[in-house]
Amino acid sequence: MVEIRAALGGPGQCRGRASFRDVRLEILATDPMSVGGISVDASVSGPPLDERVYSQFIEHLGRCIYGGIWAEMLEDRKFFFPVRPDYAPYGPGVEPTPANPYPILRTSPWEIISGGPNAVAMTTHGVVSGRHAVELAPGAAIRQRHLAVEAGRRYTGYVVASSAVRGARLTVSLEGAVGGLTGAAVAGDEPRRIPFEFTATGTVASAALALRADGAPVRVGAVSLMPADRVEGMRRDTVELLRRLRAPIYRWPGGNFVSGYDWRDGIGERDRRPTCANPAWTGIEPNDSGLHEFVHFCRLVGTEPMVTVDTGFGDAHSAAAELEYSNGDARTTWWGRKRADNGAREPFNIRYWCIGNEMWGTWQLGYMKPEHYFLKHNWVVGTMRQTHPSFIAIASGNAGPWSEGMLKACAAHMDWIAEHFYCGDLPGDMSHVRQIPERIRQKAEAHRAYRASIPGLRDRPIPVAMTEWNYWYGPHVFGELGTRYFLRDALGIAAGFHEYARQSDVIVSAFYAQTVNVIGAIKTSRTRAAMETTGLALELYRNRFLGSPLRTETGHLLEAQALRSSDGRRLVVSVVNPWREELRVPLRVAGARIKGPGRAWRLSGPAPTSFNDPDQDPVVSVAEVGAVELGELRLAALSATIIEFPCAAAAN
Ligand code: AHR
Repeated sequence: MVEIRAALGGPGQCRGRASFRDVRLEILATDPMSVGGISVDASVSGPPLDERVYSQFIEHLGRCIYGGIWAEMLEDRKFFFPVRPDYAPYGPGVEPTPANPYPILRTSPWEIISGGPNAVAMTTHGVVSGRHAVELAPGAAIRQRHLAVEAGRRYTGYVVASSAVRGARLTVSLEGAVGGLTGAAVAGDEPRRIPFEFTATGTVASAALALRADGAPVRVGAVSLMPADRVEGMRRDTVELLRRLRAPIYRWPGGNFVSGYDWRDGIGERDRRPTCANPAWTGIEPNDSGLHEFVHFCRLVGTEPMVTVDTGFGDAHSAAAELEYSNGDARTTWWGRKRADNGAREPFNIRYWCIGNEMWGTWQLGYMKPEHYFLKHNWVVGTMRQTHPSFIAIASGNAGPWSEGMLKACAAHMDWIAEHFYCGDLPGDMSHVRQIPERIRQKAEAHRAYRASIPGLRDRPIPVAMTEWNYWYGPHVFGELGTRYFLRDALGIAAGFHEYARQSDVIVSAFYAQTVNVIGAIKTSRTRAAMETTGLALELYRNRFLGSPLRTETGHLLEAQALRSSDGRRLVVSVVNPWREELRVPLRVAGARIKGPGRAWRLSGPAPTSFNDPDQDPVVSVAEVGAVELGELRLAALSATIIEFPCAAAAN
């Protein structure tokens, strides 16, 4: 095993070919690799690791919400794009294929399948949301393909339709999966909801939902189709996995998305909410999942909401209105009453509010010079505080001149400061794993330096919230930014939690970015959901790795960190072995009396590039691996192991 790391003129990554003409490798020893031991001194501990480091982030991007969490099966269900004879929803010649299963929608996904050239037209009558509805002449039909259904599963939906003429009839069918049709009379000029349901007779990867008019023209303003086993509009399979992550907080709705998002578009009757182009990414935003749905999601998953307000294109008054809408009393505040009108009498009581996203980045919608943004930040938080004084304001930071400037100019208007980082793909498993803890450490050290140098921060230090962190590389397998994760990424995420424990005096929360499909811990196909390798690491550490960090020393070939549980009765040792061979490592513990063998849990798989896929049996898994005695640890190749020893409570 040979690993060569070269510093090419400074920090950062570079790719290319290097020739080492003047380098000669000498064999110094041929002994088996010696990694040294792990020494834990339980008498030296730091502030407890905050459980909020196990928080998560979801964004309106790619297939995170739509196609991942939200159960709607149809794309463009409210006819944002005009339905036209030149059907090419994903661009000319592009179809979903096994190599590209989730292409991005560019024009209408509704295909005209019967009727003459003028039998299907867009109309401004019978509009439910947006600019137009689609009108089908008698005999005309449209359909949407690429819907995956499973034999025996029930699907329910509705069409919002109207007709100016008596005698109109609409037939809905699930082509390819159901023998029968569902038909209904469409009466009246006012759009009316016509429900339907199907039980699929076969498992079909590309069924189609078809709508056909007969008797008289029918206008269709909106359509919906969901599996009947959904939970409050969300995919049951995804929700079950999300619950397993037990994330304390979820951050929403972006990310870059938020800097062009008007939260008011996402409230009120769902069918009437406008569809728009996703302002920061690609595809469309149907606004079916807005603030209310996010709060329901949090209740369902058992987590606390964190909302990011738009400080890109948005303004202070919109941010304050969003806060009042969420937390205002329904009897005494204008926006609180609006919330009640929309079905939620009780305030949402959202505590955590991010003030903008990555406002330091020139790609951010509404980017402005730092000195201008610092004024905007204070204006936004000041206006929000006038509306509702008590909330946790998280400023948008980026270690370096931006965070330093924010802390100098805005510390009085923030409770936490956000940091983000993403790591790429590095050759060498250990280097790949190590970059995550290294980036966390760099962020924490930068903030420690600000605390020491910026007047006022010594007395009122501003904690760091790592509101986005992850690996981000590789092809988009699960839609936009739907990168796959491998076992070696999971080992890096595990090592990241070691570092959060070491930096617990500075970092109080972290939000793995993101949760579903988009650089996500959970991946979904059209019918299945599965925990990614990194999701398994999040789940394992959330359940087993909490407590106060203890002084832990290892050689540089291992990643290890010990904790003492809050009741003092368990000593937890976590070790990441990124090497492709089993290691035997002595473990020494001082300052604690271990009372017996430990229980151990191990995340592992066959190869650094092993991965899990929703449509295949899992390859990477977590298992309890039996009793472990203090002394020599046997660490499986490519594994993250957490061992929990019973110990006598610390005397203090
Ligand atoms: O998580 C994906 C994107 O990465 C987010 O939208 C943005 O905040 C960051 O640059």
